[in-house]
Amino acid sequence: MGALMNSILGVLAVILATLYQSNVHFALYTGVRLFYGIGHTLEPLSAFPSYKCRRIEDERLQACEDMWLSEATRQLFLACSETKGRQQWSPNGGIFNASGRSLTDHIAVLDIDEPEGVDGAGFRTRVLETPGYPGTHGDGTLNLVGMSGYDDGADGEVRLWLIDVKPSVDLATGRVIEDQTVMRGNQTVEVFKLVGGRGATTLEHLESFWDPLIMTPNRVAAVGDDTNAFWITNDLGHSQSRWKRRLSPFFSQGSVAYCSSGSNKSDGSQACHAAIPSGLSWPNGLVHNHHDGLLYVPSSMVGTVDIYEPVKNGSVSTMKKVDTIDVGYSIDNLMVDKDGDVWAAVFPSVTKLGKAFDDPYGVHHVPAAAMRIRKGPGGGYEVEKVLEDGFGEVLPMTTSVVHDATTGRLFFGSEFPPSCIFGSSHVQPPD
Ligand SMILES: *[C@@H]1O[C@H](CO)[C@@H](O)[C@H](O)[C@H]1NC(C)=O
Ligand SMILES: *[C@@H]1O[C@H](CO)[C@@H](O)[C@H](O)[C@H]1NC(C)=O
Ligand SMILES: *[C@@H]1O[C@H](CO)[C@@H](O)[C@H](O)[C@H]1NC(C)=O
Ligand SMILES: *[C@@H]1O[C@H](CO)[C@@H](O)[C@H](O)[C@H]1NC(C)=O
Repeated sequence: MGALMNSILGVLAVILATLYQSNVHFALYTGVRLFYGIGHTLEPLSAFPSYKCRRIEDERLQACEDMWLSEATRQLFLACSETKGRQQWSPNGGIFNASGRSLTDHIAVLDIDEPEGVDGAGFRTRVLETPGYPGTHGDGTLNLVGMSGYDDGADGEVRLWLIDVKPSVDLATGRVIEDQTVMRGNQTVEVFKLVGGRGATTLEHLESFWDPLIMTPNRVAAVGDDTNAFWITNDLGHSQSRWKRRLSPFFSQGSVAYCSSGSNKSDGSQACHAAIPSGLSWPNGLVHNHHDGLLYVPSSMVGTVDIYEPVKNGSVSTMKKVDTIDVGYSIDNLMVDKDGDVWAAVFPSVTKLGKAFDDPYGVHHVPAAAMRIRKGPGGGYEVEKVLEDGFGEVLPMTTSVVHDATTGRLFFGSEFPPSCIFGSSHVQPPD
């Protein structure tokens, strides 16, 4: 994201400065402010003494950009990839070298109540198998971006929604198409069911969703109903025009689609419709808060979280905006904890991200922080920085943070290695 953002900003700042449309102005101004971290004081990890952080070293946990915690089974699911492959194949980033893509993306699981290794530095970890999942024309592979999950019951039934950005296949020959730039790969949402609850090793494939409204997919948020329904952010919108997509952060063309099975279109794609047709400036890791029934949509470019109430009308879900929270940082993924608090992984300084993208195996000391958003006693939202590694001493370039409210621990995931960090709170968990 950083590299793309960098080039977009560089090329377009001059052109856009001449456009005095207020929302363009706002996105540009705020984007530049967040990009350079203006107005933020970076704080070191030592300023948060109740947390002690350590890395989980495990080669199965490289480049795990997104995570989801199953509270019912106490399993942390991670969508893991391989950094080299991502540099060759990243449809949202406009990189389409299909032959260089990762063939080893997987879902890893950590049993977070089962410490393992020296001094319990890690957790019992396994990689889930997906037998029967066709992948790219039968090769069984996944190309993971965002994920989401849902606890279907106390007896350990879990469903997962995975964004799979696979290359398009020539259906006549079964070969991966040479030039992927035209179709932009085959972006689908794949729904799986965990077989066996706690300790499970296998995912059973339930359903594939594909639709023109799944265009620049970033993150899914599961509804949790029988139709496998979900919302999905298109971070660069769903326009067919490449330039419209590229300029989308400035013109706020990012969108959210709602998809559910049971009403297929004539071309066989699943029925999606635009729940939020546009108006979002780089919408990122949205989340459905099952505690208040609201959808929280962060916009990376302007550092805000828009909150929507889903309004159902037949099979159509429209959105009523109920609030906007200014977080003041560029936001990646949001998570909801057991108490209904929303946690945000934020980038205190976006400039450093570009370096990590260009040289993912280097040491860049990218600042990372975790913010908590919750309803205050007065009814308004309170935003608090809970932990920051402002000098990138231990935390990776963090793209997601999970709060385990039961123990007060924080788990950090990153698109780049090393991936998973376990931040333990040894004093009182902050209330
Ligand atoms: C695409 O990826 C393959 C395999 O990693 C690599 O050999 C090739 O040089 C890459 N092509 C380009 C244009 O980067
Ligand atoms: C896209 O993926 C879906 C679901 O896996 C598959 O059925 C379809 O054939 C794929 N289409 C192309 C063009 O690759
Ligand atoms: C919709 O399409 C999916 C995938 O092809 C299929 O599994 C499902 O049965 C279809 N549903 C209906 C209602 O036609
Ligand atoms: C519900 O959808 C129908 C059909 O699209 C439309 O006519 C009606 O106005 C909608 N109702 C509301 C409350 O939006």
